[in-house]
Amino acid sequence: MKIIHAKDYADMSRKAANIISARVILQPDCILGLATGTSPIGAYQQLIKWYEKGDVDFAQVRTYNLDEYRGLSHEDPQSYHYFMHENLFDHINIDPANVHVPDGSNPDAAEACATYDKLVAEAGFCDLQLLGIGRNGHIGFNEPDDAFSKGTHCVDLTESTIEANSRLFDNADDVPRQAYTMGVQTIMHARSILMIASGADKAQAVHDMCFGPVTPRVPASILQLHTNCVVVADEAALADCPE
Ligand code: F6R
Repeated sequence: MKIIHAKDYADMSRKAANIISARVILQPDCILGLATGTSPIGAYQQLIKWYEKGDVDFAQVRTYNLDEYRGLSHEDPQSYHYFMHENLFDHINIDPANVHVPDGSNPDAAEACATYDKLVAEAGFCDLQLLGIGRNGHIGFNEPDDAFSKGTHCVDLTESTIEANSRLFDNADDVPRQAYTMGVQTIMHARSILMIASGADKAQAVHDMCFGPVTPRVPASILQLHTNCVVVADEAALADCPE
């Protein structure tokens, strides 16, 4: 695990965008695993700027998002599908046929998850997986548990995640209680991983991810076992880590 120190959110975002754009330049038809949330927005904005300047071309890139709320349609402004279009896809030259997000509108959880799992596996898994970390150490929506999850599955969100995500909804009652998420094993199949973290509320999780025991109680700690994982975190998020 390589830890790259960033000054603040803006610096973290530029560094992350540099790593992503380098991958796209080196391998124009690469497969990117993408995340939603606050952490990647700055990196997406930077990638859009570089696309507009002609520095990076997404024409052949394929993407697979980590997760989606169960019960939200693609058109729902709170869905991760909508988020990705608003924050990245609608502003770059990616082929809409090449973007994939679990189908939250499919009420049949088993079918929705199996279909997505098959898609990711048939594509050959991700070349670069971008991740954010939850305050409780979750990755995707893989919450602390007794065992690491494997493929795409339906999860009950924890109270801490519902509360953390409620900032994006009118109130906590509107936050869906379930989500479809890539499993930890699927995430670990990515050939490289880029974890980004910003802010003091991530400090404990970042410490446990990088320096704690590898345990499903801190799902992100499994990244210590990945052979090509980079963590880009800002000063506040690294505050609990040794120098
Ligand atoms: C989002 C995702 C989540 C977030 C995590 C951090 O697709 O999979 O694991 O990365 O909850 O969220 P933010 O970045 O909003 O702090």
